[in-house]
Amino acid sequence: MINIRQATVEDLISMQNCNLHNLPENYQMKYYVYHAISWPQLSYVAEDHKGRIVGYVLAKMEEDADTNKNDVPHGHITSLSVMRNWRRLGIAEKLMTQSQVAMGEVFGAHYVSLHVRKSNRAALHLYRDTLKFTVHDVEKSYYADGEDAYAMRKNLKGDDKAIESKK
Ligand SMILES: CC(C)(COP(=O)(O)OP(=O)(O)OC[C@H]1O[C@@H](n2cnc3c(N)ncnc32)[C@H](O)[C@@H]1OP(=O)(O)O)[C@@H](O)C(=O)NCCC(=O)NCCS
Repeated sequence: MINIRQATVEDLISMQNCNLHNLPENYQMKYYVYHAISWPQLSYVAEDHKGRIVGYVLAKMEEDADTNKNDVPHGHITSLSVMRNWRRLGIAEKLMTQSQVAMGEVFGAHYVSLHVRKSNRAALHLYRDTLKFTVHDVEKSYYADGEDAYAMRKNLKGDDKAIESKK
């Protein structure tokens, strides 16, 4: 039995632990705290029947939109992972969907963006096939080890202009 709920400050250490288990991109605790304080509605956890965190999505509103006049409010997925024993149960899809709904409803986000490694087959399937994100751009050597990232976006408002791919 899995419960998906909004993340609280008490969950941040477990979220960081889950991140350390599952991804090479790790963050200092203050970055988690920054998300939880600034956009408490956007990050979610999945907990098992004993209250252990088995997955999370860490998300925020993109601050570029404040400074770039041509940009519209949009959300960004900072990190997503699910513990190995709990994968392929639809947990990541549910976490992502909850966060996207809150981005639109609470902050009026027009679209949501994220980065994913070109080689991350599972995540690419999830984003492209299940959640209907599209590739907006390729960012060369985005990751610390030199791998390229797909910059992906998903429209939340039906206004396709916001997410046109770069040609
Ligand atoms: C990517 C990840 C978050 C997916 O979590 P998950 O809870 O297993 O995903 P879901 O069960 O919600 O999967 C939904 C869909 O995504 C796709 N998918 C998920 N894992 C997949 C895999 N290993 N291979 C192919 N497609 C996969 C499928 O289309 C799946 O639907 P289906 O099971 O009906 O076929 C998980 O594999 C993970 O934590 N990986 C390590 C961390 C990571 O890569 N995070 C993303 C960084 S950008």
